[in-house]
Amino acid sequence: MTKTNALAESQMQLPRDCTFTPGDWQVLSKYWYPVAIAEEIKDKPVSVKLLDVKLVCYRSHGKVVIARDLCFHRGAPLSLGWVENEEIVCPYHGFRYNCEGACTSVPAHPSAKISPKLKLIMYPAVERYGLIWTSLAGTEEQLPEFSGWDDPDFINILPPSFDIAGSSGRQMEGFLDVSHFAYVHADSFADPDNTEVPQYKVRREGNELFADYWSTVSNYGKGQENPAPEGFMWLRAFRVFAPFAASLTVHFPDDGKLMILNCASPVSARYTRLFCPISRNFDKSVPVEDTIKFNLQVFSEDREMVEAQTPEDLPLDLTAEAHIPADRTSIAYRQLLTELGLGRDYTS
Ligand code: FES
Ligand SMILES: [Fe+2]
Repeated sequence: MTKTNALAESQMQLPRDCTFTPGDWQVLSKYWYPVAIAEEIKDKPVSVKLLDVKLVCYRSHGKVVIARDLCFHRGAPLSLGWVENEEIVCPYHGFRYNCEGACTSVPAHPSAKISPKLKLIMYPAVERYGLIWTSLAGTEEQLPEFSGWDDPDFINILPPSFDIAGSSGRQMEGFLDVSHFAYVHADSFADPDNTEVPQYKVRREGNELFADYWSTVSNYGKGQENPAPEGFMWLRAFRVFAPFAASLTVHFPDDGKLMILNCASPVSARYTRLFCPISRNFDKSVPVEDTIKFNLQVFSEDREMVEAQTPEDLPLDLTAEAHIPADRTSIAYRQLLTELGLGRDYTS
């Protein structure tokens, strides 16, 4: 076996205590997910987890490095170590590794030659939308589109990450669900008497779904001034990037656009870290803290449901739960996940 193959092999080994079925894990490991907020990654190593794999994340020469959080000498986590001269130092016996993962120093034997096999398992790292993204299988970069972030006419807001003791599939489906507003979000923005869901269509393009949902459900927060004219029709345009990201553009009066990128990062089969960059082209002088607070309220309302649903895993077998016409997007989403190869034993 060549060295590259050996590395590829070790990267694709199922993690210890894997909470996914082997088949699901192999499929999910090919995609890109955010694992951290870029600004929070400095030269102090940070431990993160993706698909049950423990990773260490830090900066060296200004660039983010992501490696398996494991020193091959005696299995200590490198996230307990530190970065010195752009190299990560293991806290147990002081081995050092450079930003390519190669061991550069074994302090117990300073003049001995270091085996080139002494190398960390490394993963690609990309900074985008204020987040650090990676792929466990090291597949070609493939990130969701989020046009507001680079548009000079928009301001960007990045709320803190948000943890949910639930599966990424359930969280994602909740983000796409349009019939829960009157029930779950009555305290934040919705009207408990406005329950009816007008017809809408879902379009599929490759691995993406598009749904334009028009309704009279306002997106202004409770207690916030509502300048929308009587009968204003609100457009919520959803776009799904399988498996676990989706953008939502809410069209406000006077061509205002609020864009939200919902990125559910699967920590394990039943634990999700949600990252949610926001861009908007209006209310540019409103303090971002207000938006962050409002967003937190909405996601907290959703979290209560996602953490309480059973089964915890999103059932991909369409006969497993009852569907109504309002669920068109979520039905298409379940079909899409099935087509990705996530099968009926899908556990996230
Ligand atoms: S376990 Fe890392 S140097 Fe020994
Ligand atoms: Fe919701």
